[in-house]
Amino acid sequence: MTVSLIVGTRPQLIKLYSLVWALRRKDIDFYVVHTGQHYDYGLDGVFFEELGLPKPKFYLGVGSGSHGYQVGSILTRLEPLLLREKPKLVIVPGDTNSALGGALASVKAGVPVAHVEAGLRSRLPFMAEEINRVLIDHMSSILFAPTVYAYENLLREGIDLSKIFLTGDVMADNIMMLKNEVEKIRNEFSDVEYAYVTIHRAENTDNPSRLSEVLEGLRYVAEKLDLEIVFPMHPRTRKRIKEYSLERKLTNPRIHILKPVSYLRSLRLQKDSRIVITDSGGVQKEAFILNKPVVTLRETTEWIETVEYGWNILAKPIKESILDAVKKALHAKPVAVDPYKLYGEGKASLRIAQIVKDFIT
Ligand code: UD1
Ligand code: UDP
Repeated sequence: MTVSLIVGTRPQLIKLYSLVWALRRKDIDFYVVHTGQHYDYGLDGVFFEELGLPKPKFYLGVGSGSHGYQVGSILTRLEPLLLREKPKLVIVPGDTNSALGGALASVKAGVPVAHVEAGLRSRLPFMAEEINRVLIDHMSSILFAPTVYAYENLLREGIDLSKIFLTGDVMADNIMMLKNEVEKIRNEFSDVEYAYVTIHRAENTDNPSRLSEVLEGLRYVAEKLDLEIVFPMHPRTRKRIKEYSLERKLTNPRIHILKPVSYLRSLRLQKDSRIVITDSGGVQKEAFILNKPVVTLRETTEWIETVEYGWNILAKPIKESILDAVKKALHAKPVAVDPYKLYGEGKASLRIAQIVKDFIT
């Protein structure tokens, strides 16, 4: 009856929090497999400690590398493990290479897959995460859609209705469950007006002129709008800034570059901010849930409702566009909406656990 949860990156570890809680509530026997895609303490260990996540039973130690290396290594390292352990079901959350590798190894080993966060689409066919999601959704036996839009995308792609469940979003559950814990976190920036910034997407970081524009856009915001910038930096971004010698773009006393922060701290920093600027899937949705205006430095978003209700403004990675979008967002009058109503009212993970239980018994 055992269920295997396959994860490997920061957002997947975060999604484990409410999922694991719900699986335990429903008395489901499970264990965690960690691919090792993320391994720095700030992207990995911190979440196990802070959120009390269960220690992985298996650690694949894949680490960094190309897409082919990561997915291929996960496949070869997982296959013997799955053939030996024979879980009844594998659950993969999200759209990273760890999710694709985990799902593909499972179906090849004859183990059905359940996808948490199914149906999200950016409609950018060459975006790494879009490739991963589409493939995972089409090989999964159970698809947990976080929003109505995601649910409709799956139907439109011809996936059998009987496999798709509109559950809501496990990250919204997290925020509801951890509300009091977030309040306890100290925020050293609480007496200044600041923008909370996270940038890590390959599209923004892996091209020197694009990354340079993004950083200049942030400096424009700091200088022209009198806002501090609080920016916990992903190692990918840090590495590229060094490689392209862009450090000087961030030398301004108003710009505070931090190491990646813990999850509770990330939520606290968002909650106390004036505005959020990001290219993260998770962060733009969190900002919306926390009632913060957000500027997303991407062409499209998978979380369409955040834009529809006026909370999220998409901006081109050009410094003037970033400044304009931030100005617009600061003065916007978004529609007052209860985000939990859109994301399953804090019950997504319990619904998922019940469906998992029904499937394996
Ligand atoms: C991955 C996901 C992305 C997700 C993000 C969450 C894929 C294709 N991308 O991107 O969808 O939004 O995680 O944060 O799966 N590095 C370290 N330490 C680490 C991990 C990475 O220094 O612990 C550095 C390495 O130089 C590595 C680079 O970051 O090459 C990129 O890491 P990788 O896991 O390939 O992709 P992310 O950018 O983290
Ligand atoms: N996050 C965090 N520390 C940070 C930056 C982000 O804990 O320094 C959290 C953030 O609050 C959100 C999640 O990481 O819950 C989003 O993950 P990420 O941006 O890495 O990936 P994405 O959601 O874009 O796939």
